[in-house]
Amino acid sequence: SVQRHLSTTQPRGKVEKLTVFGAGLMGAGIAQVGAQNGLKVVLSDVTDKALENGLTIISKSLSRIAKKKSPDDIDGFTSSILKNIETTTDAVKAVENSDLVVEAIIESLKVKRDLFKFLDGKAKAECIFATNTSSLSVSEIAESCGPERQQRFAGLHFFNPVPAMKLVEIIKTPQTSQATYEALREVTLQMKKAPVTCNDTPGFIVNRLLVPYLLEAIRMVERGDATPEDVDTAMELGAGYPMGPFKLLDFVGLDTTSYISQGWRDKAASGQISEELVQPIPMLEKLVKEGKLGRKSGQGFYEYDKK
Ligand code: 3HC
Repeated sequence: SVQRHLSTTQPRGKVEKLTVFGAGLMGAGIAQVGAQNGLKVVLSDVTDKALENGLTIISKSLSRIAKKKSPDDIDGFTSSILKNIETTTDAVKAVENSDLVVEAIIESLKVKRDLFKFLDGKAKAECIFATNTSSLSVSEIAESCGPERQQRFAGLHFFNPVPAMKLVEIIKTPQTSQATYEALREVTLQMKKAPVTCNDTPGFIVNRLLVPYLLEAIRMVERGDATPEDVDTAMELGAGYPMGPFKLLDFVGLDTTSYISQGWRDKAASGQISEELVQPIPMLEKLVKEGKLGRKSGQGFYEYDKK
């Protein structure tokens, strides 16, 4: 029967093989944390250059960890983790026998949907699909897959820097099955992260609260009420935040913040989020236009040494 067929293709047992699409900062971090915690990892991207860049990010982070964990054998520690990570530009090979796909490619609904639609036909039936999107609707991405895969589809949202941030948001759509949710909770715990659960709503938990706070900080400086330095000092010493809002904006990227806010303006139109929270901010848009994107471009609200 249909019932029987569905139950036999639900995720079973542990996730052993993790496939990560996208070797940028987030994807590399997710692959690294999987490899550090007993998963066999395949990291996939469209070019060899992107994969090399991902491996560089991972090696740097691992040697940072090794300096504390095993200072006498930094290379040994690093290579013992790296050996759990394979890389490939071949998406079909990447999902062969995969138990869990985590997608961390560009924040484009079309590109994400195209990838998942393609993978739906290639991955085994039991494989769980997860997106690390921070600004798009998980349901709208999942709809690119067939009805059965949609039951095995969820959001799995990590935070930057992935190796250091303990949280993972698990986003359930109305289609996500309980078995899928439980398998994702289990793998999150195996990766030594703390899972929280949220419905598929703009920004989920963290960004829904964090992004309006960051935008409000820019409005405060734009009005000339305080300097970025004083706002950062205030929030670090007065509210105990590890980084004030302007350091965090530069860290997350001003383009990313602007992009999230812009995406939410469309959602405000349909009543999913309050309109005042996401009003455009000329100061933010000007910086983005000038290419002042934060740490990654060498300048945002602060200046950085270009490494
Ligand atoms: N790899 C490995 N370890 C790292 C690391 C990395 N890339 N970055 C930091 N760490 C580790 C350090 O080794 C250190 O470990 P220890 O406690 O065992 O010694 C620990 O993290 C703290 O690092 P530092 O001592 O160097 O510096 P800080 O104490 O200032 O911490 C920070 C750095 C963890 C980045 C901290 O400043 C922080 O929590 N900042 C806020 C970050 C944040 O809010 N991120 C979320 C952004 S929003 C997001 O990602 C959502 C997206 O969708 C937009």
